Amino acid sequence: MYFAKACKSIALLLSFIFHSVSYADSVASYPEGWEDWPVVKESLTLPADTVLPPDTSLFIQEAVRSYSWINDGQGSPLTIRVNPEKLEQYKTHGPYTDGPTVVAVSEVQGIIWVTEHFSGLPMYGSYNRQGEDIASTHPTLEPEFCARCHDTYKDICINGTCTEPVLSPYE
Ligand code: HEC
Repeated sequence: MYFAKACKSIALLLSFIFHSVSYADSVASYPEGWEDWPVVKESLTLPADTVLPPDTSLFIQEAVRSYSWINDGQGSPLTIRVNPEKLEQYKTHGPYTDGPTVVAVSEVQGIIWVTEHFSGLPMYGSYNRQGEDIASTHPTLEPEFCARCHDTYKDICINGTCTEPVLSPYE
């Protein structure tokens, strides 16, 4: 009797833990007003049938493969906008002050990827254009997945931002 009760509470505890793990919410918050942030780069997520040159870096291969599902595998324009208060910080890949830093907007599908900083550390989030958290709708939209690239490839991604800061507005 006691044993059954103990088992039940362990099962409850486990389901609670797994529930909270499997629904990964965005960590970065939705930055109101991002639509008016200056555009620093227009890029693309590539279609699923893209053939990359054999000497393509692992980083780029992984980036293309991870997001080839977007727009049913047909790719989408990607617009990168930076918080106007952080333009100078962005040029040098930080160090960044607290608050939302930069968004990457997948134009066709309406995905807003957000990078925010807190105490110098990058945090990630995924939202739709209505500001709803969509991080749990696809494995590649979860904050942990973002960190796989943004926190791992330290030669390319510095302080959590990856784009080459050779930005046309500064040329
Ligand atoms: C497979 C690698 C990879 C993963 C995973 C990834 N990114 Fe990125 N991210 C990139 C690359 C590469 C760029 C630069 C794109 C360009 O310059 O065209 C980028 C650019 C960005 C930018 C524009 C600012 C910058 O860093 O230069 C934001 C914002 C961003 N990503 C957020 C996210 C979020 C949020 C996630 C998770 C939901 C995520 N990324 C997952 C590779 C990745």
